[in-house]
Formats: sequence, C-alpha cells, structure tokens
Amino acid sequence: MHSALGSVFELLDRTLCDYQDLWLPQPFTCGELPWCGTHGQLRAALLALDEREFLQLHNCPERRLRWFREREPDLCAALYAYEPALSGSVRALEVDSFDNLHIPGRKWQQILAFAGALPHRELPHVDWCAGKGHLSRIVQRNQRQMVHCLEWDASLVAMGEALAKRQGRNITYHHHNVLQPLPAECAETARVHIGLHACGDLHQRLLHHVVRSGATAVALSPCCYHKTSADLYLPLSGAARKTRLRLTRSALHLAVQGAATARRGERQLRERERLWRLGFDALQRDLRGRDDYLNVPSCKRELLRQGFPEFCQWAARRRQLALPDRIPYEHYLRLGSARHRDIVRLELLRQLFTRPLELWLVLDCALYLEEQGYRVGVTQFCERAVSPRNLLIQAERE
Ligand SMILES: C[S@@+](CC[C@H](N)C(=O)[O-])C[C@H]1O[C@@H](n2cnc3c(N)ncnc32)[C@H](O)[C@@H]1O
Repeated sequence: MHSALGSVFELLDRTLCDYQDLWLPQPFTCGELPWCGTHGQLRAALLALDEREFLQLHNCPERRLRWFREREPDLCAALYAYEPALSGSVRALEVDSFDNLHIPGRKWQQILAFAGALPHRELPHVDWCAGKGHLSRIVQRNQRQMVHCLEWDASLVAMGEALAKRQGRNITYHHHNVLQPLPAECAETARVHIGLHACGDLHQRLLHHVVRSGATAVALSPCCYHKTSADLYLPLSGAARKTRLRLTRSALHLAVQGAATARRGERQLRERERLWRLGFDALQRDLRGRDDYLNVPSCKRELLRQGFPEFCQWAARRRQLALPDRIPYEHYLRLGSARHRDIVRLELLRQLFTRPLELWLVLDCALYLEEQGYRVGVTQFCERAVSPRNLLIQAERE
C-alpha cells in the first residue's frame, strides 16, 4: 500500500511520463517540437502573445498556471494536484545583531526560516556544505547543541571559524569533501544532519549517509539537481526506480529554471547570450549547409560584453568552423532575434513543468527515506519569493 507521499508521487510520475513530449524537448535546440502538431491551437496562442502578455506569464508562475488552466485543464489539474504546506516556524529564534553580518537579505530570511522549522533535538547537528556556517551559528545558538560544519572551500572554513570564535559558538569546522567518508564525529548514529541548498550529488550523498549510518534525523532542502556526475538521474527510491522517465542533466536543469531571482544585469546578460547563440546558430546552419543545432560550449562572461561578431568568431573557433571574411552579422542577429521571440513563448509550456518536476525529485528523496524506515514530511520552509528552492524534507528514524 502506498503512503500519502507515494500516491502523490505516482500521479506526478504518470503525468510527467505521459506528457514528456511537451516538456523534454527544448525549443532552443529542437527544430520542430513534437507537440506543435498535436497542440496546434496552444502553439498559435503562445506565439500570438504580445511582449507585455508574454512578460506577465513569464514572470508570474500563478498567472502562467491560470493561463494554461484555461487551455489544458486536465493536464494542469494532474500536475498541480499537490503543493506541500508551509512549515511555519516551530520555534521562536534567538538572534543577535552580529548573526546576520555580511549575509544578504534573502539568504538571511532563508536561514531563519530553515532554522525555525527545526524541532528541538538534544543531539549534535551536522551542517552539510555549510559555506561560512551562517546557518550553523543560528542552529547552534537555538538548539544549544554542538554543530559540525562540513565545507570543502578552505577560505569559507577560515572565515566561518573566525565568525564562530568571535561569537563563542560551539561549532567545529571540518575542511572536508563530503563525497569522501565523513569525519568520525559526524558519522555517528545520534546525529541530526542538516543541509540548506546542497546541490545534486551532494544532497544524494547526504541522504545515503543518513540511511547507512542510521542517523536519528535529517532536514534537507535540495538544490541544483543537475549538478551531478551521472549522465542520467539515478533515482534513490524504489518508487522512482520503476519510472519510465529518463532524466538527463539538461532535463534536470528544468527543475530549477525560470526563477527570476538573479540580478537584473545578470538576467540581461543571460538573455543576450541566448540571443547571440541563436544568431550564431542561424549562421552555422548556413555555413555548414545543415539544418541542425550545433552545440557550443559555455563562454566567459567578458565575451558577452563584447559584440555579436566577436561571439561568432569565438564560437566558430571552438567548433573548428572557418568563417568567411565578410559576414552580414546584422542579418544573422535579426534571424536570431526572430527565433528568440518564438522560442521564449514556446518555452512557457516547459516552465509549466518546472515545479512538478522539482516535486518529483524531492518526493524521490522523501520516499527513499520512508522506504528506509524514516517518518517523513515535506513542507515549504519559506515563501517562493524568498527562495524558489523552498522545499524542505524532514525525517526522523521510526
Ligand atoms: C549552494 S552553497 C550552500 C551554502 C550554505 N548551505 C547556504 O545555504 O548558504 C554550496 C556549498 O557547498 C560547498 N561544497 C561544494 N562541494 C562540496 C563538497 N564536495 N564537500 C563539501 N562542501 C562542498 C561549496 O563550497 C558551497 O559553500
């Protein structure tokens, strides 16, 4: 018999599998999207969006969902049947004015919300991928327990140690790669493992460690599922191992896309890069006489502060393409712009799958813990405006 989370997972899995033609192929690299034939009206409605309407749907997930609900009610009902409740604070936190020194506003809010969602436990805590250990300091102060910080960036460890020492906090920093076996003090059973925004392989590692060591409890907010060395996602739970989904790194990337939290300058640079890549794509198709996408590796940001011709020359060198002397760059940039306009509209459909895919991945983690004898809850530890990665898995050994 399925647990409540298992039933949610089953519906999500079925929907994501049945509709994979709508979200797995990427408009950016794919010439003819498979769904454009079967969903002609939807395609036409997306392409007809003017700039203002497009931006409204792009920037506001709720508005986007309403727009799609009117056109694809069954799909939206299945994809959005489940949204975890807000965890709220289980405890009032003690903080002092030194605690949030050098922490940007939103990060501070995330830390407070995460620490506030942890029930009191009379056990040492282990903070995975702790950075400078800002979360550790709040947890240590409020749980009044020893905290171990695991972090592999030596400069962050040094800065964190200095901060903790100045505040007299009972924290041990371990300059440690969590992909290696943990230091003995962290590996004991009677530990609470915490991880705020631990990426891909690292949060999988955390969960494996929790299960293997039979740790008492864990609180994890996963992040960047695509940061993994595996070419295909390796499901953790028995439930997810039965899926028909084959998630490549770029499919996993969708789970964290579409969040408008980057700074404005950063967003503009990213858009320019996409535009230039499409312009270069039009150019390379002409030069090679082949109507297919040519992958170009990622580039340094300085290149994006130069011009489109410089970008094309760099990309051509990377792909060993000879460029003729006279190229009508303006023409290719216009072609790129026209495709960019259509692609960003068609991508709205993929964005509809972002949250359900993230929930699928989080539920895989949760079900893994459940299958291994943990009592598990999934909540949102903060509003999505504070962090789009706001899902929190909390588990305690039965
Ligand atoms: C996204 S940050 C999260 C930091 C902190 N938990 C927070 O929420 O502010 C990820 C951290 O993981 C650290 N990290 C990356 N790979 C690691 C590894 N293999 N072992 C230990 N730490 C690692 C990075 O240096 C970075 O500080």
